[in-house]
Amino acid sequence: MIEQLEELKSRALEHLGRLDALPALEDWRVTYLGKRSELNQILRNLGTLEPSARRTVGQIANDVKRLLESEFNDRRTQIERTLREAEVARERIDVTRPAKPTLIGQKHPITQTLEEIVGAFRALGYDVVEGPEVEWEKLNFDMLNIPPEHPARDRWDTFYVKSEGSLPLGQMLLRTHTSPMQIRVMEKTKPPVRVVVPGRCYRYEATDATHESQFTQVEGLAVDENLTFADLKGTLTAFTHMVFGPERRTRFRVDFFPFVEPGAEMAVDCHGCHGAGCRICKQSGWLEIMGAGMVHPKVLEGVGYDPSRYTGFAFGMGVERISMLKYGIDDIRLFFANDLRFLRQFR
Ligand code: DAH
Repeated sequence: MIEQLEELKSRALEHLGRLDALPALEDWRVTYLGKRSELNQILRNLGTLEPSARRTVGQIANDVKRLLESEFNDRRTQIERTLREAEVARERIDVTRPAKPTLIGQKHPITQTLEEIVGAFRALGYDVVEGPEVEWEKLNFDMLNIPPEHPARDRWDTFYVKSEGSLPLGQMLLRTHTSPMQIRVMEKTKPPVRVVVPGRCYRYEATDATHESQFTQVEGLAVDENLTFADLKGTLTAFTHMVFGPERRTRFRVDFFPFVEPGAEMAVDCHGCHGAGCRICKQSGWLEIMGAGMVHPKVLEGVGYDPSRYTGFAFGMGVERISMLKYGIDDIRLFFANDLRFLRQFR
């Protein structure tokens, strides 16, 4: 029996040493220390032994039991600690690790250029207003002195919107420019007027590197007593210096727009080559960036302003074009392609 206990003890300890999980440990406890364990059998059968043998065997059996119990507890503590350490290691957070980069959006290059343009005029004291993209024929054309036979009115140039009922202001259409807002502003306010109008315009147009059927303009209008072409030049030159740099020169040449007289086209000397000729200015040294002119007396009369008392100047520019010239972009379609490789360059 003593030999049996010794053998049991070394078998149990050897087994215990191999365990590293709690369920297996519990199985071990049932096997070696449970009610139906070999050791328990021996302890229960002690009564059948002679008194002297009973004492010796009893003592050894109890020693074995105590030993197995304490080894069991040690082993359990050890396994629990190992498991806890593994868990902590698994969940450890390295607070010194660089964060994953967060993807934050950015403004579209057109929005950036638009805000820059509008910001420049704001600094010059202009108000910013917006108008409807679906406009009346009368405001888009007639009141801007654009006659019925003008080619822009052709349905090949303009998106007309199906219009019904009596139409005192003509058909509705997607505005072809922001200029009709000149009329809306003047009809609502008395001089002095100083506004810029950013907005989207539409033309029925074949798309190529410099034309899109949808584009963005900024219109400007100033009306007051004693405004002259000198005010126009000064204002637009100041604007140019803010957007293209203080060293830029401007050039005004005669151009025709029905709603201004005289009309002009304004150019900036090329910031890419300072006038020498390069890819951006197509070797001309100049970038034409907007149309402008003194508001036509017929337009002033049409909105009830007295042209003998008030004069004004107006201007209009394409935001895509300015953005292309400023950044040397050679295809307008890039703005609408939603290609992140292009857009990310404007962070
Ligand atoms: N509305 C013109 C266009 O879309 C641009 C323009 C030219 C606006 C001269 C003006 C101006 O206010 O005075 O081409």
